[in-house]
Amino acid sequence: MPSSIVIGSQWGDEGKGKVIDILASQAEVVVRSQGGNNAGHTVVNNGVTYKLHVVPSGILYPDTLCLIGAGVVIDPKNFLEELQMLKDKNISTKNLKIDPRTHVVMPWHILLDGLSEQFRGNSDIGTTKRGIGPAYMDKYERCGIRMYDLVHPEIFRQKALSTGALKNKIITEVYGGEAFDLEAVIAEYTEYGKQLASYVDDVSVLTYEANKAGKTILFEGAQATLLDIDFGTYPYVTSSHPVSGGVCTGTGVGPKMIDRIIGVAKAYTTRVGKGPFPSELNDEIGDKIRNIGGEFGTTTGRPRRTGWFDAVIVRHSVRVNGLDGLALNKLDTLCGLGDLKVCVAYKKPDGTILKNFPAALEELDGVEPVYETLPGFTEDISGCRSFDELPETCKAYIKRVEELIECPVCMIGVGPDRTQTIERN
Ligand code: IMP
Repeated sequence: MPSSIVIGSQWGDEGKGKVIDILASQAEVVVRSQGGNNAGHTVVNNGVTYKLHVVPSGILYPDTLCLIGAGVVIDPKNFLEELQMLKDKNISTKNLKIDPRTHVVMPWHILLDGLSEQFRGNSDIGTTKRGIGPAYMDKYERCGIRMYDLVHPEIFRQKALSTGALKNKIITEVYGGEAFDLEAVIAEYTEYGKQLASYVDDVSVLTYEANKAGKTILFEGAQATLLDIDFGTYPYVTSSHPVSGGVCTGTGVGPKMIDRIIGVAKAYTTRVGKGPFPSELNDEIGDKIRNIGGEFGTTTGRPRRTGWFDAVIVRHSVRVNGLDGLALNKLDTLCGLGDLKVCVAYKKPDGTILKNFPAALEELDGVEPVYETLPGFTEDISGCRSFDELPETCKAYIKRVEELIECPVCMIGVGPDRTQTIERN
């Protein structure tokens, strides 16, 4: 397929890295369109582990063009550390390009992320505190600093002085925090700009030209559908558009360029941070899933909340993204858990059944998950490489999931290694 999108279909951490890595090995161009270093995925290649946050996974392939689109936000300090980590492992970054429209995460964004979370107290969102929300706020308030500015010292200086003065006022007068020394920030970030200047290029043009030349393009999603600023569990969401539509606006390409959209979900559900999670398990099974599945955040190390597969949210993702297929990861984690439950709807306290994920959290107040129970399995499936090799119980589980979400399961993950994948359909 010339151009594919890979999208998270739950609350993130679905194992997109593995699916992206499989597809990146076949792609000539890999593009990232939204989010920033709030994302994180681990790729193991030839026995070496890479923790990537903003750099597209295609970087591990020497000839793959890796593009960071206008919809991304970049913390230059953290980004340069990521580049250094790659260089230390002998990975070339010569094929990496950043769109000049990409917004820069400044140190005040990081500070304000923490201060506003503190101010919210018990109503905090549980952000990654990487400054992502505040950076997008400035973008939409039209006072942000973009990559173009960062690599033009005079423009950067002028913009940093004006926006920095306002941020200092907010930090000191609203939050009682300590003001930034703007000259010190300008000196530090001008240096980062110098180091990043050679990477800046028009990603919209590069992607368009690559498509015209018939190249295989992979658009790799970060975060996930239920964290989308509009179609997620607002306000417990991230500040970008991790849905398929966000790929077009975040790269600067038209929807007709996209040939295939693949969602990624786990065979159960996890979430980090706060917010609703109707099929959450606060019991021994939830702990087992966390421990067997290694459910601890790549970016923050936080233990993830765990629960049964929620077909309501994944069906929501199928619709919002227009998924052609779903990669269902970590089926092996469900081994030995006994009967498996799948959430098929939510029951409100007044008895009303919700089949579609509601627009407002208030609609989820007091809902109970409606479960269907399916037989579990005890066989080791980590060696299975075709659908037919799976135990009948696993096949039945997958077939039922497909019916419930109204989308075919095109890949099944049976272990952490890239080879532990069943490709289907
Ligand atoms: P922010 O993106 O740091 O503003 O955090 C907002 C919410 O999105 C929090 O609940 C985070 O835990 C969540 N979040 C952000 N990025 C990721 C991710 O890559 N995986 C899972 N959750 C994420």
